Amino acid sequence: MNSREIRPGVFPAGAVDWDRRIFDELIPLPEGTSYNSYLVKGSTGTALVDTVDPTKEEELLSHLDEVGVDRIDYLIANHAEQDHSGVIPRILSRYPSARVITTPRGKELLVFLLRIPEERITTVQDRETLSLGDRTLEFIHAPWVHWPETMLTYLREERILFTCDLFGSHFATAESGIDDLGRVYWSAKRYYAEIMMPFRGLIQGHLEKIKPLPIDIIAPSHGPVYRKPDQILSAYRDWVSDSVKNEVVIPYVSMHHSTAAMVRYLGKALTDRGISVTPFNLTVTDIGELAMALVDAATVIIGTPTVLTGPHPAAVYATYLVKLLKPKTRACGVIGSYGWGGKTVKEIAGILQGLPVEFLDPVLVKGLPGPEDLKALDKLADTIAAKHRSYGVL
Ligand code: FEO
Repeated sequence: MNSREIRPGVFPAGAVDWDRRIFDELIPLPEGTSYNSYLVKGSTGTALVDTVDPTKEEELLSHLDEVGVDRIDYLIANHAEQDHSGVIPRILSRYPSARVITTPRGKELLVFLLRIPEERITTVQDRETLSLGDRTLEFIHAPWVHWPETMLTYLREERILFTCDLFGSHFATAESGIDDLGRVYWSAKRYYAEIMMPFRGLIQGHLEKIKPLPIDIIAPSHGPVYRKPDQILSAYRDWVSDSVKNEVVIPYVSMHHSTAAMVRYLGKALTDRGISVTPFNLTVTDIGELAMALVDAATVIIGTPTVLTGPHPAAVYATYLVKLLKPKTRACGVIGSYGWGGKTVKEIAGILQGLPVEFLDPVLVKGLPGPEDLKALDKLADTIAAKHRSYGVL
């Protein structure tokens, strides 16, 4: 086996992006990322599983040259997002006999996103197989991780599951594989929180679907390959489960220290009741850290002053993120300070509408919190503690 091979005939061909610091102009990448592409050489055919971000096109092509590839028969597009599909047009022109293999929905997306000619695309049904001679690829439809067209590709003889975004991590490393999930646990959890959490229920189903497969290696298209796949599978089972943890997340912003004082008081009251609390000052928060905290938290309390007639824009942004990311959080509430009125609670509750959460009684205070306001925060802490007991986590 060549030193670069993951398994005999399976070569990493992707690129590490050490310097990228934001994805989708939204997601911070404190540890960079990678776009993994894999070359699978069979006795009668060669397949490339996913490509790379267009900014790394030349790296992919030079890796193919290093491996001595003069022909690609199949270009497996597990996912149509451009960080994996963006170099398909160049590969198709460089290897004129190559055909793109994707789901029917993937074909639609590749045609309108990248203008790939329909006649170069073959669609595959769920569990359809493709022979490369002594190697067999099986395609497993796994929609909505995190786009509608996504699929996984299983290399039967080597027991490798190519999962594209699923199980990925934005983690740049020179090592292609790891044996210890501990090294990337937080990056993988952050990635799950930012990308996969809204599809938690569907991922539960996908985990059941792949359970019968013997898997020696999980090869995602971001971050390192997992040589001990049980570790990441077990982490995912925990994250997508319906169980919450005894944690309260408090994203907050404070203009004149009153809301901050309320957050401090409530945080201590909750801690005194045996509940773990993570406040996030939204003026300095990395939203990836906030997303990660939302994975397990039983309760989220938004802390916001009233600006003009409504919540502070930073609190609106955080609340909207909660709504988009759809955590398994069971209860939400609002605390904050105001000067002369407004519709803060109504607007925060309006953003959260549709999330299956219980909305707790808000605590809105005029100016600095006084003794009666602190009692109201104690009462809120009592309510949250009772809720956590009813969830079986306290
Ligand atoms: Fe890594 Fe959904 O693209």
